[in-house]
Amino acid sequence: MKIIAFSNQKGGTGKTTICVNLAAGLVKLNERVLIIDLDPQGNSTVSVGINLKPDDLTVREFILGEARIEDVMVDSYMADLSIIPSNPDLAHVEIEIANKSKNQFYLKRAIENSKEVLKSFDYIFIDCPPSLSILTINGLCASNYVLIPVLVDYLSLQGLSNLLETIEQVKKKLNPGLEILGIIPNMLDYRLKITEESLELLKENFNEKVFKNGIKICSRLRESPSFGKAIFDYARNSQAAVDFLNLAKEFKRRLK
Ligand SMILES: Nc1ncnc2c1ncn2[C@@H]1O[C@H](COP(=O)(O)OP(=O)(O)O)[C@@H](O)[C@H]1O
Ligand SMILES: [Mg+2]
Repeated sequence: MKIIAFSNQKGGTGKTTICVNLAAGLVKLNERVLIIDLDPQGNSTVSVGINLKPDDLTVREFILGEARIEDVMVDSYMADLSIIPSNPDLAHVEIEIANKSKNQFYLKRAIENSKEVLKSFDYIFIDCPPSLSILTINGLCASNYVLIPVLVDYLSLQGLSNLLETIEQVKKKLNPGLEILGIIPNMLDYRLKITEESLELLKENFNEKVFKNGIKICSRLRESPSFGKAIFDYARNSQAAVDFLNLAKEFKRRLK
């Protein structure tokens, strides 16, 4: 079982999109995946077709140790993809644990206490919120690897150095085992000159950390969450379906 955080403090870089569709791609390759939705916006929860009722238990109770994993984990419409869902209540956790000691390790502890259930999964994906908040730190502290979705334009690449600094700090002080699995270029639009230029820059700076199989811009990816479906089930002949299957294969190769 390997735990991977999807992180970038910038919103809209594709953390959720890649978390959900890479997970679905891995399911196609016969792997079992659990997504932990660590964003109060609950986008990955909705993206796999989960509609929570007001009283449903969520990742909040899981993190706080108030609910067992069996009571928070739900099956998605895919047999081998489960999720610990999130809703806006999760935002309160930040305040609830703000003054607690070792508040970086709540998620890690919850995961460790659930080993028996979790060992049947090949991968645990943590979809982090778009901030460097205590929730994101919890995600990074609970993980073996971090995956960084980026847009390839000037401002996005500038933000990358902040993130890498944070990851370095977490590695040094909190989670020495954390490794950057890679940077995934997203919304690639080869009609724009800036795309090739920025990709070059990214590769110059981060070499083999940059995934060869990025994700091209594809309107079907914007539509699929509202149907609660991964790209393979919403638009299986789309460019994005091809891209995500290739990404899933590269992901597996990198983890070997
Ligand atoms: N490759 C892509 N092509 C087109 N739209 C995309 C692509 N990747 C993400 N999007 C869209 O961009 C928006 C932001 O993506 P999202 O995954 O929610 O980012 P994040 O989780 O990092 O905030 C969403 O509306 C999503 O559907
Ligand atoms: Mg998101």
